Amino acid sequence: MPDLTGTPIGQRTLDLAKTADWYRRFRLNETPGQSELYAEWAAGVETDAEVLALIIGLPRPKRQPNLVFACARLLGAPLAGYPVFRLWLVEHWPAIAAEARVRATQTNEPRRLTAIMPVLASIGPSVALIEVGASAGLCLYPDRYSYDYAGRRVDPVDGPSPVLLRTESTGPVPVPEHPPEVVWRAGLDLNPLDVRVPDDVRWLQTLIWPEQVERRRRLDAAMSIVRRDPPLLAAGDAAQGLEALVALAPTGVPLVIVSPAVLVYLAPEQRAAFTTAVTGLGRWISLDAVGVLPQVDALLPQAAEPGDFMVSLDGRPVATCGPHGQTLHWIDA
Ligand SMILES: C[S@@+](CC[C@H](N)C(=O)[O-])C[C@H]1O[C@@H](n2cnc3c(N)ncnc32)[C@H](O)[C@@H]1O
Repeated sequence: MPDLTGTPIGQRTLDLAKTADWYRRFRLNETPGQSELYAEWAAGVETDAEVLALIIGLPRPKRQPNLVFACARLLGAPLAGYPVFRLWLVEHWPAIAAEARVRATQTNEPRRLTAIMPVLASIGPSVALIEVGASAGLCLYPDRYSYDYAGRRVDPVDGPSPVLLRTESTGPVPVPEHPPEVVWRAGLDLNPLDVRVPDDVRWLQTLIWPEQVERRRRLDAAMSIVRRDPPLLAAGDAAQGLEALVALAPTGVPLVIVSPAVLVYLAPEQRAAFTTAVTGLGRWISLDAVGVLPQVDALLPQAAEPGDFMVSLDGRPVATCGPHGQTLHWIDA
């Protein structure tokens, strides 16, 4: 029997339960040590039938906790405990829902380069770089940031950068003396963001969780660097748009295609199309959650920790790392 919205009641009950479970898993797996406020909001939503009923009115991918909370904050939600937040959320729901329908989580985290830069350096002293799922392109500038690998520092050839990317590293990380030179850079994204456009900047800032002050500082500093020399960013799909961008790359230096934190958004058949397309176009560095590329996970010498991301070169694992590059464990070859 359908309810008043025409949704069969069995489906609605299932949607409510699945959404509650999504917020519960988000709270348990993603918020610890990251955001007490988001943990409290997620715990509130989990058991709040009225709010869950609003959220399931959104298309399924848009029910994501991170997206709903960021849209609410973008529109001015108070950074207060759940009772105050939920009052505001219910009152402003039509605007929040409209925002969620047109936005996606596009968190741009340059610290992921702590895992990518040594792989790039192992390919050559100079590279041409394409990032798939580039967001605003902040990960296209590995040559403009400084790095700290558990006390071992790496600076650009022309001296220290205002952006220092620190990681807790273990294992034989092949730390180079300097990051490799990027002679050409370009990004591909379904919806490229532009660090010169205030609305895009606000969205990138809002995607950083409330208590993550250091990440927010890093984002702002990286955006200042990128704003001075913005990258070529093309709008397009990972699998279909890649070849056209590759055609623009210079010859004479290795072309490296990086795909950090993007393949998870692709349906399995799109992911397969991408891995086929990328092979033969250039060297390929992936960085995604364990489970996204099971055929590569299978080559890991030991099981990854829950929540780990895996870094691979041309389909072979080289390291595991934290989702934002905050930790890095190099595999002993
Ligand atoms: C979590 S962000 C990662 C951004 C950046 N790579 C980083 O690591 O900081 C994922 C990005 O992938 C983009 N994206 C999602 N699906 C895509 C697709 N099918 N083709 C191209 N880009 C996609 C999103 O728009 C978003 O900007």
